[in-house]
Amino acid sequence: MTISNAGELDRLKAIGRIVAHVLEAMGKAIEPGITTAELDRLGEDLLDRAGARSAPRTDYEFPGATCISINEEVAHGIPGPRAIRAGDLVNIDVSAEKDGFYGDTGASFAVPPVETSIKALCRDGRRALWAGIAAVRAVRPLNEIGKRIEEFSDKGGYKLIRNLASHGVGRSLHEEPKEIATWYDQDDRRVMQEGSVFTIEPFLSTGPEWVDTEDDGWTLTMLGGGRAVQYEHTVVATRNGPLVLTVAH
Ligand code: CO
Ligand code: CO
Repeated sequence: MTISNAGELDRLKAIGRIVAHVLEAMGKAIEPGITTAELDRLGEDLLDRAGARSAPRTDYEFPGATCISINEEVAHGIPGPRAIRAGDLVNIDVSAEKDGFYGDTGASFAVPPVETSIKALCRDGRRALWAGIAAVRAVRPLNEIGKRIEEFSDKGGYKLIRNLASHGVGRSLHEEPKEIATWYDQDDRRVMQEGSVFTIEPFLSTGPEWVDTEDDGWTLTMLGGGRAVQYEHTVVATRNGPLVLTVAH
């Protein structure tokens, strides 16, 4: 969506704060032995108490309140009986709606003991996100975001998952501007409108550039080894640069 008044911005900030807080709380609750269903229930309770509804459930009938993906699972993992173990890499994606406005955020968490390469991947995944955020400014080309992320990714010798894109958000979970590449797409001629609301969510990978859908119809899995992380914020493009909405405090 494109924000047209202060009331809309306030409500986007409110839901942004909620999803950020839920993500943070779920991340802190990760420990060996906890199942992804238990983690999801915590997220659902917190959304409930904040008066928010799970966006993947509302918009897509996703079988969970949040998406939780472990190790070879890269995104859209369904919460269930799988127990988290020491050394796992866990991605949590929280998106929700309140008062008709949506926010979307995600992060990957490494459960100790963490391998050095995974520690570096997590650090660089977050840096890739912020490289993209730094490119946000109204009336600049939209593909600057992917360009900066790809430059950063290339320097580290990483790949970016090509079948998972960033997206407009606000009045629904996925809306215009659709399919924002987190790699450089020179054919994309769109510009960032002032007040445009969208996510930035690069999937930085030490393995392949593509993920495959599992038989459950949701879970996106990386075949052939390697790991991927995702860090996601919802942002607004302003004349002064990025305004990050999905912050907890
Ligand atoms: Co998300
Ligand atoms: Co998203």
